[in-house]
Amino acid sequence: MSRLDQSNTPYFDALRDYVNDGVVSFHTPGHKHGVGMHPLLRDFIGDNILKIDLTQVLGLDDLSQPEGPIKLAHELAAAAYGADHSYFLVNGSTAGNQAMLMTAVRPGDTVLLPRNSHKSALSALILSGARPVYLKPELDHELFVDHAVTPATVEKGLRDEPNAVAVFLTSPTYYGATADLAAIADIVHARGKLLLVDEAWGPHLHFHPALPQSATAAKADACVNSTHKLLGAMSQAAMLHVVGTRIDTGRLEATLRIFASTSPQLALLASLDVARMQMATEGETLLGRALALARDARARLNAIPGIYCMGPEQIGRPGVAGYDETRIVVHVRELGMTGYDADRILRERYKVQFDLADHFNLVGTITIGDTERSVDALVSAIAALAKGRSIGDGEQAELGVPVSRHRDAYSLPPIPVAVVTPREAFLSDYVEVPFIESAGRICVEVITPYPPGIPILCPGERITDETIDYLTRELRAGIHIQGPVDDSLRTVRVLP
Ligand SMILES: Cc1ncc(COP(=O)(O)O)c(C=O)c1O
Repeated sequence: MSRLDQSNTPYFDALRDYVNDGVVSFHTPGHKHGVGMHPLLRDFIGDNILKIDLTQVLGLDDLSQPEGPIKLAHELAAAAYGADHSYFLVNGSTAGNQAMLMTAVRPGDTVLLPRNSHKSALSALILSGARPVYLKPELDHELFVDHAVTPATVEKGLRDEPNAVAVFLTSPTYYGATADLAAIADIVHARGKLLLVDEAWGPHLHFHPALPQSATAAKADACVNSTHKLLGAMSQAAMLHVVGTRIDTGRLEATLRIFASTSPQLALLASLDVARMQMATEGETLLGRALALARDARARLNAIPGIYCMGPEQIGRPGVAGYDETRIVVHVRELGMTGYDADRILRERYKVQFDLADHFNLVGTITIGDTERSVDALVSAIAALAKGRSIGDGEQAELGVPVSRHRDAYSLPPIPVAVVTPREAFLSDYVEVPFIESAGRICVEVITPYPPGIPILCPGERITDETIDYLTRELRAGIHIQGPVDDSLRTVRVLP
């Protein structure tokens, strides 16, 4: 077997060998292979997970400075993903986004990113001290969904900001749309900038030809994958990949050391190692099955009156260069109920749980862990929901917010002027002032109404009359606001 044979699982093997060796442990963790753990938990979770809950002792390598089986597992992951370097992460894509930006930019450097980036991108801006310039994602006004940004938007962004050092994009989006990363990589690299991709929702893309092109195949300089979200790894287990030589890997590794616990959960590392082996050796077959299940689910859902499940017919619309068909986005507006209501009813009445609900949609995933039975449960529950709705079900009639109202929510006010960086605003002292009197002040909070989930104010931005009017109107309509300490927005935190 060659060193980079993809059927190898060097890290899982190291953990299993340690257990089988019968080592007497005088090291952490204190439960000593589960013996010291209360049976209430131990009996429920089982012995083996506790036997491999170990610390980084001889033979188990060091995630911060890998030289043994973790290093080999990283090399195997890089080979499988077509990357030059891969790194295992035990704090999700959140840590990956933070490490990518911390590596790529210096305090005050400009980075272009979509306004609807995941909150880990905002934390990465705070940590790195970067100056964000926001790109407008494409909004679908029919489905009330944000898609990816287009190459034209990136090109214009770089023309307007010639000193930007990096472009940070999300692809796929939560709703399954992918950006035209290959075209964007050409645009970004032609100007000597870095392309960083939050591919949290794309750990599977590289392993099936019917899925959209992966960020590594598109030659993004770095990307992160939440392996735990869609593949066989455990929660929090993620990877960061680097392609080419534009990223300073020495700095990246130093940054990862800052974020890494000195006691990472080794079972998470083993789960990444095995998930990579699984994709490399049988990914196409397993994903082919997941795709077939998802296509079947989509066709059956679209046959239910009042339901629309988005699919590949969206490809070619602005911000949808490709579409991940394993994502199941169920648009429930025609049922006259919100996604939040639908989510609650599906869970309470039919024991079906989606990953996310927004005002108009439910977002779920069909993965290599699904079966015909689970798909049947999904389709039957949605069919029952739709049927119950059409016969005027009392509980279902309790809607959160008048649905028609939310067309206006997509007429967003202009992005406010950033006066200081998110880092400066976040670390500064603040005062609390009445929100309706805050025009002209510099916000230190992020204020995001749902829908559409795009921040109206970010830390460091000047509050305007337009933003106050917009948010006041949305609050009156009963919209959810996320981010500020006072989410009723009677007060807001601003720079003194
Ligand atoms: C687009 C995006 N990026 C990053 C993350 C963070 O990923 P993780 O939960 O693995 O830290 C998420 C989580 O939902 C996400 O949706």
